[in-house]
Amino acid sequence: MDRLRQQRAPFAEALEAYCAKHMVPFHTPGHKAGNGAPAYEKALFGDALRRDLGLMYALDDLFQPEGPLKEAMELAADLYGAGQTFFSINGTTACIEAMILAVCRRGDEIIIPREAHRSVMGGLVLSGAVPVYMESRFAEKEQISLGPDLASLQQAIAAHPQAKAVLFTYPTYDGIAVKLTEMTAYAHAHGLMVLVDEAHGAHLPFSPDLPASALSCGADCTAQSTHKLTGSLTQTSMLHCRRGFPLTEKVRAAMALVQSTSPHYWFLASLDSARQQLALYGEERIAGAVALARKIRNSLNQIPGIHSFGREILSYDSVAALDETKVTIDFAGLGLDGRQAEQLLRREGIEVELVAAHHVLALITLGDDAESAAALVRACTHIAGGRQARSVSVQPERPLPRPEVVVSPQDAWNGDTECIPLDSARDCIAAETITFYPPGIPVIALGERMTAEVLTYIREKMAAGYTPNGPADGSLRTIRILKR
Ligand SMILES: Cc1ncc(COP(=O)(O)O)c(C=O)c1O
Repeated sequence: MDRLRQQRAPFAEALEAYCAKHMVPFHTPGHKAGNGAPAYEKALFGDALRRDLGLMYALDDLFQPEGPLKEAMELAADLYGAGQTFFSINGTTACIEAMILAVCRRGDEIIIPREAHRSVMGGLVLSGAVPVYMESRFAEKEQISLGPDLASLQQAIAAHPQAKAVLFTYPTYDGIAVKLTEMTAYAHAHGLMVLVDEAHGAHLPFSPDLPASALSCGADCTAQSTHKLTGSLTQTSMLHCRRGFPLTEKVRAAMALVQSTSPHYWFLASLDSARQQLALYGEERIAGAVALARKIRNSLNQIPGIHSFGREILSYDSVAALDETKVTIDFAGLGLDGRQAEQLLRREGIEVELVAAHHVLALITLGDDAESAAALVRACTHIAGGRQARSVSVQPERPLPRPEVVVSPQDAWNGDTECIPLDSARDCIAAETITFYPPGIPVIALGERMTAEVLTYIREKMAAGYTPNGPADGSLRTIRILKR
């Protein structure tokens, strides 16, 4: 890493230098440095509206960078150990779509985890690629998916030797890191490209206590939400290609396909300054977040009825590492489900990231401090007070039916659809994806056959009171299918 150059934020500096000139604007945006902005925007952003600029001659072009933006992206590549880094103003969603578009043509097979983020399905719809699913392991006690393991990958490759690429989610939302180095080596040995959804991993390189980064595990291309766990503005992400990745130019072209032609300079400057912050203070700040998360977890585990799993999760064979800054707080011992816990926490002034089963997920980042940590522990202590702690029996999760992909997501997307009663949907092809939490892994996805096993699974989950995620009709009395 070039420590001297990393001190600078070339694009943020160029933007500031330009704004200091107070040029009279005869270009977009129409509000002209705030003069024509509505009162709400003026009150909210004030003088910052002068920085609301997009593509313009005086500064650089995101899609043909030659000046400070080029330098900013080179510095990001230098920091993360990438061959090339691309900035995204459309989140990791765009990065994932772009890397799939760069690697897969219509009809190509791509191996993915069953619970991949919906942007992966977006990438399949856009590219016409066909999914091959790796089976995911499920941790019954913690009620979370552990993702696929090497055996799942081996089975998928053996059944689909022509597959072009594999995509991993690493780490998962819950902070679980699969054994990416060994799976990447196996995939490469079988001629597959390795793409990684590292939306939750922009902070990984800055602490040896966190899982290794996807690039250091050998990935070809990895997409990170800089905004999720580090300091940039919401909606900003980075896509990194490893040194020598042969499709880097295609990735560049694909990034232009999936983003606005008027990228907000604010967002780009925000990525540049977040990179600078990580280069200068990342190790200290991320180490602080890990230490704080450990303290929080210890305190939570002192509260009767509340549990937060930690490094014992490594006892599952498929888990390589845990991102301890992801604090899962399980309320089962208080007889509360995740939704109830979330609402009680809100009453205490605490807002969490994710709700599932009997737990909520709290993220600890470089933005936390002793005060926010104390507020979380205090709220949980308050919720537990007055409630009787009880022992928790683990309900085994029903095995998911094996998916049967009939048409590609792109063909399913382009097909005519109709809504029919669930009871008459047997053997029809689904036009929507349905997931129950737990296990947080879809039971049926776009383009798949509604087998008898799928229908039984859905009926049993509904009868047990679970709410489906994904279908237009949440009662699931009807389901959207491809017209027969
Ligand atoms: C695993 C995963 N991948 C991708 C995304 C999309 O990221 P973004 O919100 O930056 O577009 C998310 C967002 O929640 C995610 O959780």
